[in-house]
Amino acid sequence: MKTMDDLFYALMQDVYYAEKQLLKTLKKMGKKATSEELQTAFNDHMEETQGQIERLDQAFEMFGKKARGKKCDAILGIIAEGDEVIEEAEEDHILDAGLIGAAQAAEHYEIARYGTLIAWAKQLGKPQIARLLKQTLEEEKKADALLSRIAEAQVNPAAKSA
Ligand SMILES: [Fe+2]
Repeated sequence: MKTMDDLFYALMQDVYYAEKQLLKTLKKMGKKATSEELQTAFNDHMEETQGQIERLDQAFEMFGKKARGKKCDAILGIIAEGDEVIEEAEEDHILDAGLIGAAQAAEHYEIARYGTLIAWAKQLGKPQIARLLKQTLEEEKKADALLSRIAEAQVNPAAKSA
């Protein structure tokens, strides 16, 4: 890697791989979650993730490079921790809380990565790519906020109606 272009392209591949992994993981989490609200949140974000992958396809095209993923150990670690929760949680509410925690770790990873990609796209004179990825960043932030609300309602059901 010699240029910012190279660095940008490498991070795009990292995020592309991460999104594809998360697509599978969200499907699994949607099946494993016990609260209906959480199932819906995971399923909705899975569909959103499909759109995010398409946006990345578009961004690769705008950048003039082939869309491809590169193994991302960070997301694999986060996913492995989520799997651990699924295997080890013995109560429904423990499982749901653990799944929310794992999903939020993934969201925060994505928020960090998209933030960087957007900054670099601007720096490289690619404002259209930055705008496109900004849409995804907003979706990730919303997904994270929704998970926080679900977690709070789980701990304090009265907060839900308040
Ligand atoms: Fe995503």
